[in-house]
Amino acid sequence: MKFTIRPLTADAAAAASAVVHASFQRLASNDWLPDAQQDFLQRTAPEGIGAKLASAAYAGGAFAADGTMIGLVLMPEPNLVGLLFVDPSRLRQGIAQALWAKARAHIEAEFPAVETVELNATSNALPFYCSLGFVPISLEFWRNGHRATRMACWLPARKHGAECI
Ligand SMILES: CC(C)(COP(=O)(O)OP(=O)(O)OC[C@H]1O[C@@H](n2cnc3c(N)ncnc32)[C@H](O)[C@@H]1OP(=O)(O)O)[C@@H](O)C(=O)NCCC(=O)NCCS
Repeated sequence: MKFTIRPLTADAAAAASAVVHASFQRLASNDWLPDAQQDFLQRTAPEGIGAKLASAAYAGGAFAADGTMIGLVLMPEPNLVGLLFVDPSRLRQGIAQALWAKARAHIEAEFPAVETVELNATSNALPFYCSLGFVPISLEFWRNGHRATRMACWLPARKHGAECI
């Protein structure tokens, strides 16, 4: 299935929020206590996402042929993946992998001093991140009402032929 990826700006906030909410509620919310789920949904409503998009080190969206947004990645800092979500009806089509590839290329080009990118992985996303070369750097932990595992990707591993994939 074809899709394109392009950088996101704050005017994509409503569509980005819809993708995050649909994906979170179907795939990730099991790892969150009810109050924390509500807090996450509030923080990722269009207004909150718009502010994050405006200040992101990188934000990219995946779009279907009809222009519908079907996935997004948002890096608030060049060394941190904050959000990476794909529409639940479009899983296992390489969309998240392609989003990360664009984000990584941007960070390597624009922030060459950044060697390691980190994130908090929910349990459903852990195998996906492992497939990209991220490795756990913590046990699973609870924080702010949700459980996650801290993971990291050392970007220079690729050029040394030493990626963990
Ligand atoms: C995790 C997520 C972003 C993956 O999106 P996706 O577009 O389906 O992933 P891709 O198609 O790019 O997958 C690439 C590879 O990752 C691995 N992978 C992806 N999803 C997987 C799963 N559920 N179980 C095991 N491996 C998985 C596979 O190796 C896959 O390659 P393959 O399909 O050829 O076997 C998506 O499931 C999602 O949006 N989850 C909910 C939100 C979330 O938890 N985001 C992360 C917040 S930390």
